[in-house]
Amino acid sequence: MGRYFYTTPIYYVNDVPHMGHAYTTLNGDALARWRRLHGDEVFYLTGTDEHGLKVQRAAEQNGLSPQEQADRTSKRFREAWDLLDIAYDDFIRTTEPRHHTAVQTLLERCYENGYVYKDTYQGAYCVSCEAYYAEADLIDGNCPIHGFPVEQMSEDNYFFRLSAFRDRLLEWFEDVPDNITPERYRNEARALVRGGLEDLSITRTSLQWGIPVPWDSKHVFYVWYDALTNYATAAGYGTDEDRFATWWPAVRHLLGKDIIRFHCVYWPAMLMAAGVEPMPRFHVHGWLLVSGAKMAKTSVVQIAPRDLADSIGVDGLRYSVLRDNPFGPDSDFSYEALVQRCNSDLANGLGNLLQRVTTIVARSDGSVGTAPDPGSPLAATAASAYEATAAAWARVQPSVALEETWRLVRETNEYLQDRQPWKLEAGAELDTVLGDALEALRIVAVLAHPAIPRSCAEVWRRIGLDGDPAQARLPEAARWGQYPAGRTVTLGDPLFPRVAVD
Ligand code: MSP
Repeated sequence: MGRYFYTTPIYYVNDVPHMGHAYTTLNGDALARWRRLHGDEVFYLTGTDEHGLKVQRAAEQNGLSPQEQADRTSKRFREAWDLLDIAYDDFIRTTEPRHHTAVQTLLERCYENGYVYKDTYQGAYCVSCEAYYAEADLIDGNCPIHGFPVEQMSEDNYFFRLSAFRDRLLEWFEDVPDNITPERYRNEARALVRGGLEDLSITRTSLQWGIPVPWDSKHVFYVWYDALTNYATAAGYGTDEDRFATWWPAVRHLLGKDIIRFHCVYWPAMLMAAGVEPMPRFHVHGWLLVSGAKMAKTSVVQIAPRDLADSIGVDGLRYSVLRDNPFGPDSDFSYEALVQRCNSDLANGLGNLLQRVTTIVARSDGSVGTAPDPGSPLAATAASAYEATAAAWARVQPSVALEETWRLVRETNEYLQDRQPWKLEAGAELDTVLGDALEALRIVAVLAHPAIPRSCAEVWRRIGLDGDPAQARLPEAARWGQYPAGRTVTLGDPLFPRVAVD
């Protein structure tokens, strides 16, 4: 049995949840569900990043206190994740007492180890990034990420001796060849380290909305120092050392490519400075870029998950996002593509398969399902679909995993097309074909559970099985031949109604 601690970035509460946030969170949820199906111990963490200038300014604009702004928006994130059936195990808020304790503990360890000192800082600051930039990194005097003008700031700050970690970070890259996946982002992070590291100012006096430095209350922590520590907080750092020792070695951070520098350079250095081992693993993804007529004038950050779920269903959204936007590269995101994917794979694919099979069984006496043929040609398809699906999840490639699972859906539909059970008289041949199709549906319901949990539970119920595919255990559950004869099969409305592109 393995142990997996998956995390998403914690989202800023100056903004409401959008499809960019949903993308990371859905991928994490699916990965966590896939591991749970193997009986692994899983801890899936998400949450909100509630301190800093950006949040303080958003609160001012909305006429709220920063805490009120954080409370309202954090709730919106939880509502969005509930709507999308995100089964997180913990939702961390950086305003919680456990997090204050962890941040202060981490700082104290870095301080004791000689990696924190006080100095004056002057530089160009981007409020959207919540980061200082060297003049050389600016583009026409603007932030290289956001393109907005930066602000000149000068402060007496505590500094983190990041420059001391260049060699140790490079060693870590040498020692752990898959510390960051995919490779292109690993190369990017390594180039940042090779390029040289300047010490990092980690406290602010110009800001009130943050966690106070324990021995110097004029200072609050820089929001990134505070935010990155959330992953350790949730594992018990500073509050429950046994728990931390259990979960920390299993940590895997999911993040977008925009925050590589903070996660893959600063955070490992902070952990090294505090004496925390081992280093996390990182899985980085690209950006969703909007194309297509319906969304042409918007960006992903303007699309609320709820709006899409209302038109294509929660599972339609979950499936098409995971299937069509491979984890790693940037990818096009369009309403037309989402609808097309739902119609082809869900309505015409899985939905049609379920409808065909349950309709024919419902015509038989007592609506009773039959057992599969151990020598069915679909047995080999199911075995290879599971192998390929599992390999893809292990490589953090949900889109490939679903493509492989859907090979079983497609081949089962083709098998029915070939055997034409709707033309067969009652008898052994019909029983075999139906038993095979029911068994394929059972296996698909398990393999597709991480992407479309609600629909898989409904497939399970309609083919007469007890419980929920979430309780199935892989790899045993993928073995051909387990659908039991004698279960009552239920016919219902199409599982995935076709969606019209309007
Ligand atoms: N609060 C920081 C993260 C701190 S983690 C210790 C932050 N928050 S954020 O609200 O801006 O969310 C950033 C994350 O949202 C990105 O890393 C990425 O995971 C996701 N996305 C935001 N826009 C995105 C797209 N357009 N496409 C894909 N994901 C993007 O940064």
